[in-house]
Amino acid sequence: MRKTLPNLSHNCYYKRNFIFPSFFYYSSINYSYVTLMKNIVLAITGGIAAYKSAIFARLLIKAGFEVRVIMTTGAQAFITPLTLQALTGNEVHTSLLDEQAEAGMGHIELAKWADLIIIAPASANTLARLAMGMADDLLTTVCLATTAPVIIAPAMNQQMWAHPAVNLNVQTLRDMNYYLIDPASGEQACGDVGAGRLPEPEQLLDAVRLFCAQQTTVQLLADKTIVITAGPTVEAIDPVRYLSNHSSGKMGFALARACVEAGAQVILIVGGKVALPTPLGVTRIDVLSAEDMLIAAQQCVVGSHISMQANSSYNNDSHEHSHQHNHAHQHDHSHQDGSCDCHYEYEYEQSDTHTPVAAEPQSLATDIFISTAAVADYRTEEAAPQKIKKTQKSMSLSLVKNPDILATISLAHPQLFVVGFAAETQDVERYARDKLVAKDLDLIACNDVSRKDIGFASDDNAMQVFFAKRYEHEAVTLEKASKDKIAQQLATIIGETLRQR
Ligand SMILES: Cc1cc2nc3c(=O)[nH]c(=O)nc-3n(C[C@H](O)[C@H](O)[C@H](O)COP(=O)(O)O)c2cc1C
Repeated sequence: MRKTLPNLSHNCYYKRNFIFPSFFYYSSINYSYVTLMKNIVLAITGGIAAYKSAIFARLLIKAGFEVRVIMTTGAQAFITPLTLQALTGNEVHTSLLDEQAEAGMGHIELAKWADLIIIAPASANTLARLAMGMADDLLTTVCLATTAPVIIAPAMNQQMWAHPAVNLNVQTLRDMNYYLIDPASGEQACGDVGAGRLPEPEQLLDAVRLFCAQQTTVQLLADKTIVITAGPTVEAIDPVRYLSNHSSGKMGFALARACVEAGAQVILIVGGKVALPTPLGVTRIDVLSAEDMLIAAQQCVVGSHISMQANSSYNNDSHEHSHQHNHAHQHDHSHQDGSCDCHYEYEYEQSDTHTPVAAEPQSLATDIFISTAAVADYRTEEAAPQKIKKTQKSMSLSLVKNPDILATISLAHPQLFVVGFAAETQDVERYARDKLVAKDLDLIACNDVSRKDIGFASDDNAMQVFFAKRYEHEAVTLEKASKDKIAQQLATIIGETLRQR
């Protein structure tokens, strides 16, 4: 299994050592790497992808960063400074030799203010000027004058990107400790197909977040491999209808991202039809039903999954996900503009081990299993081979119980660190504690899905986390916060608890 890492060069010269406080304080502190690397200069150069920078600026602000924008003269031919000013709430910086601008936040102040500079898109022209150490405009001068790390996201025609001069400049920039995000592949605005596209704004945000986390936080889950299940499962009634539930997959995706940010290698098994973009650095496997999910989880945990190939998280080669089990299907995650998430070919080995049984410890490919998926408790006894016609006045479905994925994995692998999730509508604590014991879990995180303001499709959550008896603590409450924030807290709790084992 190979982790898809963001293509950032790693000559880190800017690391603030930050010791995370004990997790007793999680609910009361407002910790985030965003507060440690808050000030971001977003530089936009003259490329067709400049339109994506407006959305990227918006996402950075939503994620809690303070954003100031530099635009080259070329950039202003593609998108107006006014748009960026309106989005960021700050004046846009466009000129070096401007008396008025220098009287305000001049180039040196801007260079000192920045905790991080990201150039997106970076034109071939700007790459060349940076590689030469030129200082003939505001952007290049600020890059020379800053001690902040600079991330560069080049974007250009595929033939330009393949040119030896551009390659040489990119290598020079890597050697000078600039961090490069490789462009995505796919169809380009000019009609060409190949490498040179700017990654999607969400993927740029992921790259920034991951970079900031790596620079500022203790990597509590470094060297750990984690399998996470997310989303609902889909249980076929006939070829066009299915049984499912309201799970959006957001919590599992947020947790996958948080675990990568904490240093882990993450395989995310996604059930149902979740269309969320795959977090950067995460290996994604799509399945449909509970039975599919169990088989994928079993194989990932022991490392026996086969033919799993991860492409870049932002590549755009045409693909299909093929599933060769009960529900063979093709699944396309392409976005409208031609970009897409991950590409995996995944073939299941047949397995009939659905019954929870305690097994002898064996060496595992995984350290941690986290089950956030809302697995359907029941499936149809038999899916109809053809579409069922509405000829009957009423119809009834015969349902059979699905395998218990969490219990099966947990009881089969006693040495695995296992985290369960419980979504309950009543007696949350009692059900959660019962599950913790019955399924021999290390932790269980539970939320009350009867609350309208949190849970399923919401962007927020609030949780109680209960620990197995062998650990120091009994329970921790995570107050209502964004799912991203709750996920960061959970990743830290998991890392700290694993250390006590
Ligand atoms: C319509 C159009 C689209 C362009 N798109 C790109 C591009 O995607 N990437 C690139 O490197 N240059 C592109 N260029 C060329 C740059 O705009 C040009 O090299 C400019 O000098 C860049 O200046 P800057 O790096 O100071 O922003 C494009 C030019 C035009 C006319």
